[in-house]
Amino acid sequence: MAEQVMKKVLVILAHPNFAESRGNKALVEAVQEIPSVKIHYLYERYPNWQIDVQVEQELLRSHDLIVLQHPLQWYSVPPLLKKWMDDVLTYGFAYGEAGTALKGKELMPVVTAGGLSEMYVAGGAVNFTMSELLRPIQQTANFCGMSYKTPFVVHGFLPKELEIPGTISDEQLLQASNWYKQLLQQCVAS
Ligand SMILES: Cc1cc2nc3c(=O)[nH]c(=O)nc-3n(C[C@H](O)[C@H](O)[C@H](O)COP(=O)(O)O)c2cc1C
Repeated sequence: MAEQVMKKVLVILAHPNFAESRGNKALVEAVQEIPSVKIHYLYERYPNWQIDVQVEQELLRSHDLIVLQHPLQWYSVPPLLKKWMDDVLTYGFAYGEAGTALKGKELMPVVTAGGLSEMYVAGGAVNFTMSELLRPIQQTANFCGMSYKTPFVVHGFLPKELEIPGTISDEQLLQASNWYKQLLQQCVAS
């Protein structure tokens, strides 16, 4: 019987202060032992923000599913991840006539957010859904010929000082981390 080929997953983790993280740390811990999943700690790798474009492009070439994992910051990606996109997704690599390196690969956002899910609706405290806010990432995937996978979003990392009920509990976070693990295990095997 033919051996099953495992999909290679690159998790690009962009957290400006991972040492203080609760959500992303739990998510990473859940998936880091999965064979063929590589965690790429962007802020730790580039403390001076001098991104090695060749290294990054090689990493992208050698993986099938690219996960962009980060806390939501001002309804967007953290700034080093935006710089990574600007520097790495270049003409001739990611787009343009000869820029086919990412074609056929998959891209999946994995996002933690302070706000509760019920805030992310028209008329709610945030007014826009997470799908709407992630449109620039979705279109980046489209533009590079990648297939965009349903984002995995974990809400409710509210600062204690706000005293808003609904902060994600340890049990809920553990459950979300287990779902994330199952999701990546399925992705690897599919
Ligand atoms: C600079 C900054 C901007 C933020 N902007 C948002 C935001 O736009 N929407 C939101 O729901 N949470 C926002 N947050 C909260 C973070 O998303 C939240 O603390 C993080 O996802 C929790 O994950 P962690 O425990 O891994 O740090 C922001 C936090 C910081 C530090």
